[in-house]
Amino acid sequence: MSVFEKNRDDIIKTFKKEYQNKVGFFSKDFLHNNSKELLEIIKKFEIINNNSDYKVLEVGAGGCRNLTYINNEFPNIQLFANDLHKEESLKNTHPSIKNKINFYGEPTQTFITQFNENNFDLIIDSDHLVHINYTDTKSIINHINNIIKPTYFLIRSITIDNPHRSIPYHKHNFNDILSNYEEIYHTLSKNDSKWYIKLFKLKN
Ligand SMILES: C[S@@+](CC[C@H](N)C(=O)[O-])C[C@H]1O[C@@H](n2cnc3c(N)ncnc32)[C@H](O)[C@@H]1O
Repeated sequence: MSVFEKNRDDIIKTFKKEYQNKVGFFSKDFLHNNSKELLEIIKKFEIINNNSDYKVLEVGAGGCRNLTYINNEFPNIQLFANDLHKEESLKNTHPSIKNKINFYGEPTQTFITQFNENNFDLIIDSDHLVHINYTDTKSIINHINNIIKPTYFLIRSITIDNPHRSIPYHKHNFNDILSNYEEIYHTLSKNDSKWYIKLFKLKN
């Protein structure tokens, strides 16, 4: 058994590869509106510098819809993503970023541990850690907070708890990140008020 609560096979049973057809670029308007909402916040807080040194990672990115919107606005940056099924995720990724993106077919639990300080300027968790149990999420957040230390951490997460649903929802509090980060923005999603968006910035 790994250090994480569930092993890869158990995780993949919950998120089968067909799930990628629902959450990729070619998905319903509602999810596109979520991506646009995140982009507006990124623009409002001037988080991204459009240069080739700037690195954005989205964990559990599916078909990289959020990253497509970001890349349209900031085409010079580097893009990184992971999810469980690389081939299916890339099938559902827009052609404009398919060859550009550094995509890793690995669970976030193990994927994140290979990165260190200065690897990323911005890490995004959009509707992803909500599906990962409390213990594993704590380890992932701990690694982001203490080891990778991106300048910004942007999350879309949920206000309700339903960990026993077939696709679980975990209401995480993200308080651990506040040891090194300050919360600079918090809002309920305009698209669905069960969801909130928070932006954290590394303290000086
Ligand atoms: C609801 S989708 C969100 C996709 C994208 N982030 C978005 O905002 O639309 C959740 C994603 O998390 C992925 N996922 C679930 N558990 C995972 C894990 N342990 N490691 C990596 N990806 C995982 C699923 O495969 C799915 O693509």
